[in-house]
Amino acid sequence: MSESSTDFATIGLLGLGTMGAGIAQVLAASGRKVVAVETDRARVDAGLARVAAFLDGGIARGEVSEVDKRVVLERITGTTSVTELHGVDAVLECVTDNAEVKTALLTEVAAVVGDRIPLLTDTSALSVTDLAARLPEPGRVAGLHFFDPAPTVRTVEIVRALQSEEDLIDRLVALVDTLADKVAVVVDDRPGFLINALLLPYLNDVVAEYDEGLATAADIDTALELGLGYKTGPLTMLDAIGLDVHLHATEAAYAATGDPRYAPPPLLRRMVAAGRLGNKAGHGFRTAPHREDDN
Ligand SMILES: NC(=O)c1ccc[n+]([C@@H]2O[C@H](COP(=O)([O-])OP(=O)(O)OC[C@H]3O[C@@H](n4cnc5c(N)ncnc54)[C@H](O)[C@@H]3O)[C@@H](O)[C@H]2O)c1
Repeated sequence: MSESSTDFATIGLLGLGTMGAGIAQVLAASGRKVVAVETDRARVDAGLARVAAFLDGGIARGEVSEVDKRVVLERITGTTSVTELHGVDAVLECVTDNAEVKTALLTEVAAVVGDRIPLLTDTSALSVTDLAARLPEPGRVAGLHFFDPAPTVRTVEIVRALQSEEDLIDRLVALVDTLADKVAVVVDDRPGFLINALLLPYLNDVVAEYDEGLATAADIDTALELGLGYKTGPLTMLDAIGLDVHLHATEAAYAATGDPRYAPPPLLRRMVAAGRLGNKAGHGFRTAPHREDDN
């Protein structure tokens, strides 16, 4: 665990949900202080509990000590008030993926932190350029796109909006370099950025092929894991991502581009309508209430 940080010593984080909690841990483990804002105290506590649970997993695997856990948690302050962000060196928003929600919150935050503090977004599906255009001083806006789970996925996409100042992009590359095991990739602000631009059509194709009876869900995953060396088969991956999360991302990319590769396959919509959202619902392609293999 690094103890030093030269730039972005204190980072304001908006939202301590799936992504925010993981990112808070990563930033705190790099020696930074994190001021995390949530909507109410219960969500602050739930977010901090999620960070503690991640760290407990690390302790169980022998990767993190009890002292590391205490130090990381001490560096994260949870609050329900954006005024606590006064004096932070950057703000990263990880709230609900809705342009109006993000704009309203970041506008409020900009009034607290001033015109010079970078405003960063972890959005997967929205245009960073569009978000920047809605905010004062758009040159200080960029994407800092971590993947789920943030503590373990190594790639971080730095998303350059049309307005992003190049100096900010350089500072973000340097920031990611200080995060344990993380690797920065700078990408332009296009729907899906880099990884999802390639991943979304692949997952859509797999769902369509499965729907047409190509093979069982288990055989599709096994074929790609063993045949191509993929660490995780596509249907296991979809269950982990959440079918609703994938649907939201691919719908957004389809709306932005009109590219039929992003059009959600009909089975995906039906699964989401039926509440079969994957692991979190206990029912998806590979997760089922009574059987695991060929649902
Ligand atoms: N889940 C993923 O796989 C994933 C991966 C990469 C990026 N993202 C992006 O990360 C962002 C967050 O996604 P998530 O999956 O963590 O969502 P989530 O629903 O798990 O968490 C969002 C959190 O934001 C909080 N929030 C909402 N409005 C707020 C406000 N005004 N002030 C403070 N907190 C507020 C909510 O209470 C909630 O805890 C989205 O933009 C999404 O596109 C998600």
